[in-house]
This record gives sequence, C-alpha cells and structure tokens, in this order.
Amino acid sequence: MTKLSVNINKVATLRNARGGNNPDVLQVALDCERYGAQGITVHPRPDERHIRRSDVLALKPRLTTEFNIEGYPSPEFCDLVLSVRPAQVTLVPDKPGQLTSNAGWDTRSHLDFLQQTVGRFNEAGIRTSLFIAPEPEMAEYALKAGADRVELYTEPYASGYAADRAKAIAPFIETARYCREWGLGLNAGHDLSLDNLAYYHRCIPWTDEVSIGHALISDALYLGLKQTIALYLKCLE
Ligand code: PXP
Repeated sequence: MTKLSVNINKVATLRNARGGNNPDVLQVALDCERYGAQGITVHPRPDERHIRRSDVLALKPRLTTEFNIEGYPSPEFCDLVLSVRPAQVTLVPDKPGQLTSNAGWDTRSHLDFLQQTVGRFNEAGIRTSLFIAPEPEMAEYALKAGADRVELYTEPYASGYAADRAKAIAPFIETARYCREWGLGLNAGHDLSLDNLAYYHRCIPWTDEVSIGHALISDALYLGLKQTIALYLKCLE
C-alpha cells in the first residue's frame, strides 16, 4: 500500500500572509488525517517563511498518523528533529533561501556527511529518507549512507508527463526496481498531482509513500479538502 502524506507548507504560507492564525495549520493537519491522509509532511526552513519551529512542536503530540519532517540537515534542523522524534526525516540538499527543493542529493560525493547524519537519526529510532534524482547510483550510495528509504524527485516526471509519460517514468521505474531489489524503501514527491499520480502509482505500485503539497492544496481551493484527499487516495488504490 502506498501512503499519502500531505505536505501542509502551503497552508502555513497562507496563514503567514496575514500574521494571524487563519487557516489554523494544526487544525488542517488533523482534518487531513480525518479525511484519510496517512501522513503529514512539513518542511521547516531557516527563515520560517511557511512552517515554523513552533508548528513542528505543536503538531507532534497531536498527530496520529506518520509525521515526516523534511529539510536540509543544518545543526538547528537536526536538533529540532532529534527533539521532536517524528516517524521519518527526509533530508534534502536545499540551500537556505531556496524557493523549493529542485534537485536531489549527490549521495556519492556527500557520502561521509550523509553517513554521519543518517547515523544520528537511526540511533534515535527515526526512519531516514534521502531525496534523490532517479539514478540507480544515487540510490546505491543512499543505501551505503545507511538510509532506510529514498524519496525520488518527481519533478522531471511531472514536467515530461504530457509529452510522453512512458518516457518520463522510465528512469523512475529503473531506479525503483533497484531499490526493491536492495530492500531500500521508496518514497516519491514533488509536483505530483491528480493528473500524473495514478500513472506513477500504476507503474511503481511498491512505492511506500508519496508526499504531496502544492497541487493538493491548490485543488482543495476548488474541491474542498475532504474531496481532494479522497481523489488523491483513489489514485493510489
Ligand atoms: N518532497 C520534497 C523533498 C519537497 O521539498 C517538497 C516540496 O516542499 C515535496 C516533496 C512536495 O512537493 P509539492 O509541493 O510539489 O507536492
């Protein structure tokens, strides 16, 4: 079964635009769970432009599904994750002011750093996932780093989908097959949507989890959160 983890960063962006607590990020997370989401993802960035440290602390004791915290493993980020102890941490190679994650790790050249960082989280009993491009070598070195899972960066799939979806998915299937063979867990995320999710899942049904934010929250403006989550879950049946 592939779990749907809703990334609620965009909800926090909307809240922060006015300075109050509307929409209430915690309530939205709890409602996502009530409507069937099997996980909640947040990406606290150093400038707190969407999810804040205080949101992360408030969410942890209230969530009943899998809590996934993603981000660049700066000392502050690692301290936060180690104190909150979510089910999963997803490490991304983002620079501080970056708009959104736009590349995976070069797990080969950062092997030592990743090994040390992943080791700290493993010791604390937190599942680790490394955000990578769909390249078998990057998955191989993620495994060497000790990661439990990789999250495949799906933007190239999403942007190539309309022109030729079979071609766009091919490198993902190849890398995903290696991951399955090596016993490496498999997540996916970035630019997944109601247009492209069902085909992705049909091609790689052994995906453990997808984390989806931008398109899902945008769809919810028209369809409402409850119906939107139901439609995303249907793509994963
Ligand atoms: N995975 C990672 C590592 C991300 O940084 C993001 C965006 O915060 C997502 C998944 C979700 O991408 P999207 O908002 O396009 O669904």
